[in-house]
Amino acid sequence: MSDRLAALDDDDAFDDYLPRNLQVKSSVHFTPIAIARHVAPLLAPKPGMSVLDVGAGPGKFCLAAAAQVPGARFVGVEFRRHLVEIARNLARRLQLPNAEFVHANAFDLDWSGYDAFYLYNPFAEQLYGNALRLDQAIDLDPASYVTYVSAVRRRLADARLGTRVATYHGFGGPPPESYERARDDSMGSDRIELWIKTRPRPAPRAMRPASPPTAAPEVA
Ligand SMILES: C[S@@+](CC[C@H](N)C(=O)[O-])C[C@H]1O[C@@H](n2cnc3c(N)ncnc32)[C@H](O)[C@@H]1O
Repeated sequence: MSDRLAALDDDDAFDDYLPRNLQVKSSVHFTPIAIARHVAPLLAPKPGMSVLDVGAGPGKFCLAAAAQVPGARFVGVEFRRHLVEIARNLARRLQLPNAEFVHANAFDLDWSGYDAFYLYNPFAEQLYGNALRLDQAIDLDPASYVTYVSAVRRRLADARLGTRVATYHGFGGPPPESYERARDDSMGSDRIELWIKTRPRPAPRAMRPASPPTAAPEVA
């Protein structure tokens, strides 16, 4: 069997391609292969679509999705450099040129070129700290959880009409009101939700022109 078929056969097979310290974290931190296969065509129903996995880890979602939908492009952004290197090596070894990996904080990346986004609860580690730590490579801070969840909501609110968002275990907040839930599939240990942007972002409320002060403010 080729490396590609073997690695993406099931979760245990994929884990064999990871270093030992990640194998023991895999079932909690990385998307199950069956979920990735189910989600990939929901996010990229037409050829040529681009999907961003926000917080890609060692690439499990993007690699399984890229094999499932070869006509789409799956890009994973990840701020732990060593995980990006593992993901890039696997993409080469499994001959999946439509799986790409970027080393960056997700919020330093331009999201405007993507048709769809995948989120596997990527910021939970910040909130739960050592109980859910993937490794010691980053400092954890519950305040970052709030910052990142709000930043996702802003990016999604700015995205174009038709943008698709899939979550497994959510991302920490509701999608903006301009999104409608198109699917809610019970699978594995939770639900896969698919959201589609169907309404434009509401226009900001018009500001009333400030009237000039009628009297000088009092100075104590
Ligand atoms: C729960 S894992 C999910 C991995 C992958 N998406 C999957 O489903 O198999 C979340 C990953 O997101 C990364 N991450 C969290 N916040 C990030 C951010 N702001 N920018 C880039 N990566 C981030 C973490 O380092 C971790 O590897």
